[in-house]
Amino acid sequence: MLKKIIALFFAFIILLVSFIGCSENETQKDGQPRLGITIYSYNDNFLSFMRRNIESMLTGKASFIMNDSENDQAKQYDQIDAAIQRKVDALAINLVDPMSANMVIDKAKASGIPVIFFNIEPRLEHIMSYDKVWYVGTRSRESGDIQGEMVLNAWKSNPKWDKNGDGKIQYLLLRGLAGHPDTEGRTERIKAVLTNNGIVLEQLDEQTANWDILQAQNIANTWIKKFGDSIEFIFSNNDSMALGALKSIQAQGYNIGNENKFIPIVGVDAIPEVIEEIRKGSILGTVLQSPKDQARAVVDMVLNVASGKDVLDGTDYTLDDVKAVRVPYKAITKENIEEALEAYN
Ligand code: GAL
Ligand code: CA
Repeated sequence: MLKKIIALFFAFIILLVSFIGCSENETQKDGQPRLGITIYSYNDNFLSFMRRNIESMLTGKASFIMNDSENDQAKQYDQIDAAIQRKVDALAINLVDPMSANMVIDKAKASGIPVIFFNIEPRLEHIMSYDKVWYVGTRSRESGDIQGEMVLNAWKSNPKWDKNGDGKIQYLLLRGLAGHPDTEGRTERIKAVLTNNGIVLEQLDEQTANWDILQAQNIANTWIKKFGDSIEFIFSNNDSMALGALKSIQAQGYNIGNENKFIPIVGVDAIPEVIEEIRKGSILGTVLQSPKDQARAVVDMVLNVASGKDVLDGTDYTLDDVKAVRVPYKAITKENIEEALEAYN
């Protein structure tokens, strides 16, 4: 008798569980796909364009929650846990800490949820550790190559920029977040391109301002007082920091029209504020990374995997050997600023 009751009890539980499972699948099929999205910081200038593009492209196509991780990886883990608890169909993640993709993957893998990382490329071993993870971004080194070419050409055609006439470039460099693939790729390649083309570089200083305009401005305040007219170039890993440096040197009378008080600056991103400065001639150039094209790829891919389709279904993207879709960079100087405005509009 007891055995019968126990057997009946288990049969009931099994029925109940399969019923719950069923009804959940049903609601998922009826409604739009559910997504969880995180942005490492809403204060980041470039990411704010990515964010707005993703939001508008997803509207009407998915129900999603987008979180500001406020530059706090622990907070981001909580946001991801909450999304998994809500039973999202897919995640789109802009990491805070470039080294932490494996933790995110572990969480998603346990529930079989696909993940699209974007903007911060996960380490190779992490991306290869789960079949349902992909990356949308750029080739970091490419932006450094383009910056290097830009500096090389401008340096060669402006002999008076060699203020002390020693043939070398006395430069300052603003780095992004330490350990970020873009920081490493850009810093390494701009120097390599110049050196490989016979330019001798002399580093006055190199400091990290974590992609941030204010941190860069503070650093440049010290630099301009310390090095003044011996500064021949400012290389910046991104545009926000380039803008911070510009503000700082302008307060000391540089780059406001006096030809003898000019320090060329290059950045990366092509945000509208920098395009405006390029137009005025106070920043030399930048490298466009299109927020529109990257957002489009994130949206297409996350919608595909959320509804169980092939990640590239209906798109003409290609995946490279590390499951990444790469959007190309482009050099932007005074001559072609319209292209940058288009990608940010
Ligand atoms: C870079 C971009 C920076 C910053 C950073 C954040 O690709 O150039 O401006 O947004 O990503 O991860
Ligand atoms: Ca010099």
